Amino acid sequence: MKFYIKTFGCQMNFNDSERMKGILNSLGYEQAQNYEEADLILINTCTIREKPDQKVYSLLGEYKKIKEKNPKALIGVCGCLAQRMGWELVKKTPIVDIMFSSYNMHQLPELIQQAQAGYKAIAILENPPEDEDKLWEYPTVRDNQYCAYVTVMKGCDKNCTYCVVPKTRGRQRSRSLESILSEVRSLVYDGVKEIHLLGQNVTAWGQDIGMHFSELLYTVAEVDGVERIRFTTGHPRDMDEKIMKAMGEIPQVCEHIHLPVQAGSNRILKLMDRGYTKEEYLEKIQMLREFKKGITFSTDIIVGFPTETEEDFEETLELISTVKFEQLFSFKFSPRPDTPAYSMEGQVPDQVKTQRMDKLLKVQKAILSEIAKEYEGTYQEVLIESWEDGKLVGRTRTNRWATMEGPQELLGKTVKARVIKAHPYNLECEVVSVLS
Ligand code: SAH
Ligand code: SF4
Ligand code: F3S
Repeated sequence: MKFYIKTFGCQMNFNDSERMKGILNSLGYEQAQNYEEADLILINTCTIREKPDQKVYSLLGEYKKIKEKNPKALIGVCGCLAQRMGWELVKKTPIVDIMFSSYNMHQLPELIQQAQAGYKAIAILENPPEDEDKLWEYPTVRDNQYCAYVTVMKGCDKNCTYCVVPKTRGRQRSRSLESILSEVRSLVYDGVKEIHLLGQNVTAWGQDIGMHFSELLYTVAEVDGVERIRFTTGHPRDMDEKIMKAMGEIPQVCEHIHLPVQAGSNRILKLMDRGYTKEEYLEKIQMLREFKKGITFSTDIIVGFPTETEEDFEETLELISTVKFEQLFSFKFSPRPDTPAYSMEGQVPDQVKTQRMDKLLKVQKAILSEIAKEYEGTYQEVLIESWEDGKLVGRTRTNRWATMEGPQELLGKTVKARVIKAHPYNLECEVVSVLS
């Protein structure tokens, strides 16, 4: 029996798929190369914006062809769209045999059994079930041998007025320290060097179990063999001095953080209910620079939030020019059903969103070429993750892709590399020495 999983959305969703692959392996399924040879197809969906929703419908149209060749093949939909729409989605997509969400991935074995017996296996729960921690008993199946995601936190208790995540992922739940550590230890035993802690709101870890995210950082760093630590997504509101101090004190924590700002205008930030002002955000960036020397930043921006004026948008441009983010993910505001921003007055026409997006990307492109130049001639620590087109590929501690000539034996090694030429999205390097 073979399975095929198509994943949309954020790193948490990717990690969920890695976990489901582990569950399916334990049931004797193997991974298929393409959907046509699969006996079970799962679409792990995202519903953060309207576009990914539509992709799911078109994919289902394509995948249903499989039933002509293999009538016993099962098609499942899971993830955030399934959680948001539930039975409404079942009605819209009668082809689907199995439906569940991130709340109950651990129930996948029973759901498959049910579907194989000819029943529709639909299990969309209102709240996460009591036994959701059973999920951690299954190992993940990863493509990357050296860098691994570890989900430490589920859900989100913030209520940004544009966002569906609190509805699709539920209340904030921190995974226990013991459970996280036991996964980290087994990953290191498998050869993993970089641990990437994940949560929709990872810096809020611990708040519901009387602990603090900084404790998690210190504890993970004590596991023998952990060479690098990253974490995503940090929220500016929770990014306090204790976390910054820990980042500075722990050598394994990399010099990079993704800290979504969303907008540069205080009026818009307030309407978004982000819980910080532009000044507070900039102050945190400054403090992070002091605590963690050489740190780089990436961010998310929403353009065209309801009532956003040209002046508001100019403030976003000003902010990105001040911070100089190494990476910027920008999105046109997409009104999501059942969120406050959906029905706010002053929706911005799509054409204006497009214009602002183009302008934002143009300004960012110029910033990127400026930043890239600063890399030339510098020495970087690169963890070699893969071998592509005859070249070694890895990431710097500042989260830049780097490529270089070298033997395949360097896979999984950390090297000191000199940057010969810097392109906006890639650093061409040469190996100077092998560090570990
Ligand atoms: N927890 C993270 C973000 C998770 S969603 C945080 O608080 O920053 C990832 C990104 O999608 C967000 O940062 C935001 O920029 C974007 N996004 C979320 N909802 C959106 C919407 N309705 N329209 C457009 N972009 C959206
Ligand atoms: Fe969504 Fe805001 Fe929570 Fe991020 S912090 S997941 S944007 S509600
Ligand atoms: Fe999308 Fe759900 Fe992640 S809506 S961004 S897959 S939490």
